[in-house]
Amino acid sequence: MTRTTTLIAGLALASTAATAQNFGTEADVDYAAQLWQAMVETGLAGDGAVQALPYEGVEPHGLMLETFYTRATIDGHDGALVIKRNYGPAGVTADEVISDRMAHLAAVTIMFQRAEGYDDETGNWFYAKYLPDGSLEPNPSGVPLAGLVGKGGDAGCIPCHAAAGGDDYLYTTDADLE
Ligand code: HEC
Repeated sequence: MTRTTTLIAGLALASTAATAQNFGTEADVDYAAQLWQAMVETGLAGDGAVQALPYEGVEPHGLMLETFYTRATIDGHDGALVIKRNYGPAGVTADEVISDRMAHLAAVTIMFQRAEGYDDETGNWFYAKYLPDGSLEPNPSGVPLAGLVGKGGDAGCIPCHAAAGGDDYLYTTDADLE
């Protein structure tokens, strides 16, 4: 192998490793568990969670949605937390969701703004997609959806949210959530 080939092979390996570590690591899974716990404790997730009027949303988040803007403190860091509950199946009405939320809840997707330095390039948002019981939904390769999901790729939370207006990765609002 020439020196150049070795270098290229090395770079390819390094970039594969970097991509693999963007989300779904043990640290990401632990962090997501802490966030879920904080949401349950503040009545934002779980059986007795606070309810709002479900509204018709757009793919990929499901067809009936509820969105909450709040804050949470994790490991001493206080940050903005946006929670989106995604209901289904296709065609479900708001009344059906209100009648039996847990039966219609497909997923809970969240964005939590971590401290500066977490990932300044993408606004320091931590992403997670939970199933109704608080476990993390895996992607098709079995990697839990928590962390910088999709960073550097062309599918997943970050590449899509990067296209949201206002350069803040948020679709529903350009408000300053600091
Ligand atoms: C293909 C594009 C796309 C992908 C992929 C995507 N989202 Fe979204 N997301 C949206 C859109 C559009 C909205 C606004 C939905 C609405 O309320 O009508 C949204 C809204 C949200 C919100 C509410 C905050 C906001 O942006 O207004 C959260 C939280 C969220 N998504 C989390 C996630 C997570 C976590 C993932 C990955 C597991 C993800 N999203 C993947 C398009 C996407």
